[in-house]
Amino acid sequence: MKLLVTGGCGFIGSNFVRHYLEGHPDDTIVNLDLLTYCGNLENLRDLEGDERHRFVRGDIADRELIAELMRDIDLVVNFAAESHVDRSILDPSPFIHTNVLGTQVLLHAAKEAGVGKFVHVSTDEVYGDLGPEGYFTETTPLAPNSPYSASKAASDLLVRAYHRTFGLPAVITRCSNNYGPYQFPEKLIPLFITNAMADESLPIYGDGLNVRDWIYVIDHCRALEAVIDRGRPGEVYNIGADSERTNMEITKTILAELGKPESLMTFVKDRPGHDRRYAIDSSKIQSELGWQPAFPFAQAMKQTVAWYVENREWWQRVKSGAYRDYYEEQYGCR
Ligand code: NAD
Ligand code: TYD
Repeated sequence: MKLLVTGGCGFIGSNFVRHYLEGHPDDTIVNLDLLTYCGNLENLRDLEGDERHRFVRGDIADRELIAELMRDIDLVVNFAAESHVDRSILDPSPFIHTNVLGTQVLLHAAKEAGVGKFVHVSTDEVYGDLGPEGYFTETTPLAPNSPYSASKAASDLLVRAYHRTFGLPAVITRCSNNYGPYQFPEKLIPLFITNAMADESLPIYGDGLNVRDWIYVIDHCRALEAVIDRGRPGEVYNIGADSERTNMEITKTILAELGKPESLMTFVKDRPGHDRRYAIDSSKIQSELGWQPAFPFAQAMKQTVAWYVENREWWQRVKSGAYRDYYEEQYGCR
């Protein structure tokens, strides 16, 4: 099988490409990524020279390029997105371009080319804010609260429409917050690990009691494999690992793991529109597709902290923007 993976040099996309090729030695992947501020070729350095992985730099909203790439593709997995809520508050425009227009361009090209399946990687944030009780199911109404989640909800509706109107065999996944290696250090967990390692303060928004439902990135990749193999077109699958934690709990876990003092915690002004709680009911994917999370939170968080400790050079280069030099070196004159 030949896959088109978009956003494959970002956090989840790069973990997916590596994980997928390990388990599917006969498949090939075309990895299309624009390499925006958070896309990083170094995330897949270990695949250099592997003929099963072809990297193409480009924009998912570029109609001609996408039509060309889609010609002999069996299956699309769409990770490419602007993904950070705080950036969407500073400037929503790129979120509309990539998440909404870009997804529509991909859907259209996939329909024209007759691809076998289109897996759209979405988020639980499209469901909005949960009160202290209950869980998001696949039938929870969409009620996004940030420009990021609104743009993802819009893309989900386009996927739905392309399935219903044009018969595109598309599936939507909605996963909870991921953590693991190669996450850009603007998101809570890698930001706090790397700040704590540098003895810098950890900026906790509001009272620190917002709740997220955490999943190790490889469990998300495993769920996507199940959806690729057995997911039914037109369906939505929630993905989560039943690991709700407050931001304070996450912060204290990181500090304890690194042996750093709690005095590094600093409470800062809350994020505008900040959703209080997310929690996923993943019983549908578990019963229908036979997927289950395999990485318990305590152990996978420990491994994640250890990865950032062992890969200081990676995040220091990312934080300094030095990886862009690597890209110029690799592709500047091609
Ligand atoms: P990320 O920001 O690390 O990676 C996004 C990638 O998309 C980057 O490599 C970037 O260069 C690329 N990209 C951005 N605009 C592009 C464009 N116009 N054309 C081509 N490539 C472009 O994000 P991530 O955390 O890996 O998230 C991947 C996907 O998973 C997103 O769709 C996100 O909404 C979804 N998701 C993320 C989480 C999470 O916790 N991180 C949870 C659920 C769902
Ligand atoms: P984030 O990693 O941005 O994911 P999302 O907002 O998409 O869930 O944030 C996770 C939680 O951590 C969220 O409640 C906001 C909070 N947060 C902080 O308290 N401080 C920070 O510096 C960041 C980046 C996030």
